[in-house]
Amino acid sequence: MSKRRDDVLGLLGVERWQPRAAAQPVVAEPIASPVPAMQAATPAVAVAISPPAPTPFLLLPTDASFVPSKDWSELRAQVADCTRCKLCKTRTNTVFGIGNPRAELMVVGEGPGADEDASGEPFVGRAGKLLDEMLKAINRSRAVAAESPLVNAASLPSTVTQSVFIANVVKCRPPGNRDPEKDEVEACRHYLDAQIAHVKPKLIVALGRIAAQRLLLTDEPLSRLRGPLHQYGLSQTPVFVTYHPAYLLRAPKEKAKSWEDLKKIAQHLKAHV
Ligand code: URA
Ligand code: SF4
Repeated sequence: MSKRRDDVLGLLGVERWQPRAAAQPVVAEPIASPVPAMQAATPAVAVAISPPAPTPFLLLPTDASFVPSKDWSELRAQVADCTRCKLCKTRTNTVFGIGNPRAELMVVGEGPGADEDASGEPFVGRAGKLLDEMLKAINRSRAVAAESPLVNAASLPSTVTQSVFIANVVKCRPPGNRDPEKDEVEACRHYLDAQIAHVKPKLIVALGRIAAQRLLLTDEPLSRLRGPLHQYGLSQTPVFVTYHPAYLLRAPKEKAKSWEDLKKIAQHLKAHV
């Protein structure tokens, strides 16, 4: 274990491991779970199930006239042509997402940066390299089933596991890497909701505040959202919130906490997938 832990910490660039006793334990609250799948399991790392989002709806009212396609390739085409918000004016490429469209794990970031805008693929810059290391630590890779012409999720072989689909809250780059604005998040949310409905992940990992707030429809700070297991939408898909890799690059000392999150994520996947 400690060899593997050291390996993973090495991957994440954590130089010195703090003794376990000194690390912050994950708070375990023995409350009844509203998620049936959670009741059977006794994960080594127990987590609290959060109550329904207590904070007001963050987003603007839904645009009922727009219907995202249920067909994956049509949805992709809708995004490619999208002019639903002002980000369409400054983008080079839309960034739909990458990975296995029937993955059990979905990772949601904030929005494309310069490298992603140029390439059309999410998380290809420095933060993306770190994300790939984080995924490697939980035996996932965007490359395992990198999206192929098999655009129909149902047609992918069921043997394809250990995979991930990576998406963003907004599909077009906010200029200067600013945070996406509320109207942009709202305009783009149909696509992310449609992607989640299509992929039907067993677990969603929200990277950073923007993704967490959007998925959980809350304006709570990241510090409050990171830790417990939350639920997304009517499907009540479990959601873990962790640090955005771009933040970890700026604050490397938080990588040890990120490793705690990854352990929880791996544990959850092991118990429920
Ligand atoms: N940061 C994100 O949130 N998403 C990307 O695709 C790249 C960097
Ligand atoms: Fe459309 Fe989303 Fe791009 Fe805005 S960010 S133009 S809503 S795809």
